Amino acid sequence: MGRIPQSFIDELLNRIDIVDVIDARVPLKKAGSNYKACCPFHTEKTPSFTVSQTKQFYHCFGCGAHGTAISFLMEYEHLDFVDAIEDLAQQAGLEVEREQGSGRPPQRDDNLYDIMQQAGAWYKQQLRSHPQAERAVQYLKQRGMSGEIAAEFGVGYAPPGWDNLIKALGTDEASRRQLARAGMTIEHDNKGPYDRFRDRIMIPITDRRGRIIAFGGRILSTQDEQGPKYLNSPETPIFHKGRELYGLYEARKAIRNPQKLMVVEGYMDVLALAQYGIRYAVATLGTATTKEHLETLFRVAPRLIFCFDGDRAGREAAWRALENALPVMHEGREAAFLFLPEGEDPDSLVRDEGREAFEQRVDQAMPLSRFLLEHMAQQVDLTTKDGCSRMVALAKPHLNKVPDKVFRHMLFDQLAHMVNMKTEQLERLADHQPAAEQRTPRAGAPARAGKNTPIRQAINLILQKPQLAVNSPPCEFLQQLDLPGAQLLHDLLEIVRNDPHLNTAALLERWRDKPEHIHLSRLAENQLPGDDQGLESELHDIILYLKRQIKLQRWHFLQEKLTREGLDDAELNEWNQLLNENSMFQDK
Ligand code: UTP
Ligand code: MN
Repeated sequence: MGRIPQSFIDELLNRIDIVDVIDARVPLKKAGSNYKACCPFHTEKTPSFTVSQTKQFYHCFGCGAHGTAISFLMEYEHLDFVDAIEDLAQQAGLEVEREQGSGRPPQRDDNLYDIMQQAGAWYKQQLRSHPQAERAVQYLKQRGMSGEIAAEFGVGYAPPGWDNLIKALGTDEASRRQLARAGMTIEHDNKGPYDRFRDRIMIPITDRRGRIIAFGGRILSTQDEQGPKYLNSPETPIFHKGRELYGLYEARKAIRNPQKLMVVEGYMDVLALAQYGIRYAVATLGTATTKEHLETLFRVAPRLIFCFDGDRAGREAAWRALENALPVMHEGREAAFLFLPEGEDPDSLVRDEGREAFEQRVDQAMPLSRFLLEHMAQQVDLTTKDGCSRMVALAKPHLNKVPDKVFRHMLFDQLAHMVNMKTEQLERLADHQPAAEQRTPRAGAPARAGKNTPIRQAINLILQKPQLAVNSPPCEFLQQLDLPGAQLLHDLLEIVRNDPHLNTAALLERWRDKPEHIHLSRLAENQLPGDDQGLESELHDIILYLKRQIKLQRWHFLQEKLTREGLDDAELNEWNQLLNENSMFQDK
């Protein structure tokens, strides 16, 4: 699907009111010009969670949580960005716009959800009433699946035959087209379509809101060669394998705020674990764990356990998961690896040894740090100096991917210990340039003090009261100014000049995925003292001051060149002229 255009996000943030969005979930009380409540993101007795209607922004003075209405839904409802937008759009009565190219009208995709829902219900009914369903029921029983779990997860049966589903649901041209678009039927040139799933146990795959978006179908017996053991829905407008996780909706329904999630390989593993009371398991859909998966999972729970076979292939898959996990190891997140005995999967193991023994394994899962360092230590000989240097060389790039400073430092500490070096020495060696910390800081992380430079103050003003900048002149010159934040200030000014209706939230959303986002949101938390007119002239003065800085910069450059190698006539002229514009040396 195409990207959601910025203009749509602007409109959305203009239409909705963050006060309504939050109040519907966390009742707010008016306090001065703001609204207050006890913070939903940490435990507290006196309210420090503040919502500003003018800025369309919330901020907790206790734990540092902050953001726009979109961020609030992402954090509170554990939604991803697109889902949060869709929720808000629905409340505002807007249809989410998509950029041209691949987007399809949402109306038609809604019908796909419909037809999938009908298919799910029909498969369930077949498991109860089809004349040949007895084999399927026997199969599930023999695997030990309880009726409750089968019902809760909507397990069904696709009977044998080429057109059962088409006959049942494809009653008109429109629904036949939907079945095809949802991947439930396959076009057969000139012979018409046929059912994709035949004589299989049907496991519905739901999205984060519980809507059926795909199916996995298992054959009843691996003896007779009837195609792959599991047949899955193809990619469709509503199903993207690399994004979805089997069982996530059910896990969230069972546990409102899970503290951990376990990633397993198979549908049947999720079902068996759930049956034994382990409700926090989810499965990838026959793919490796993607970055997108990890972001989704970490949004729901702070601790992830990856469960793999103990064999070579399992270790390799675990390593790939680790590589994807490193860049998202932000503050407060944890990951661990659980390696199962060879020949076992969570399904067989939990049935064999029960919940308690299995959960003991979960609790003892290998921390990411240990897996990372041990895996690399195996490739070198740490008893030699050469092996130690190789170890450092191997580990360095991985460690530097970790965005959380404290965790990264801990890893360097452990690495130093292994190779008999001092941590500081290693860290210097490692000249790390960690990924910018994009996640909002939590748990009392103090706002970085930072110098209050004129540029910073200008950004602060525009961010909190975008109207202040509406009448400012073009400011291309800022792009040549070699000072931190000059480019950012330029961008902010241009955006506001071009669109005078933007509020703080809409500005922040433009930087959502950029490294500057964290600094901007911190600035947005501030309160501006003074009246608008005073603030507007303050902004005006800063811009004038910065204009002088450009000239000053140029003068310094020429001055330096003059003493070093001399200037040609034109340069000398310019130097003189700049010197005469003595205004620029004033009020410094
Ligand atoms: P496994 O082969 O480990 O299956 O595949 P399993 O979960 O233990 O299944 P049972 O116990 O034999 O029924 C793990 C996952 O890989 C995908 C499925 O998502 C499956 O759950 N897979 C496997 C396929 O997509 N197609 C296949 O043919 C096999
Ligand atoms: Mn299995």
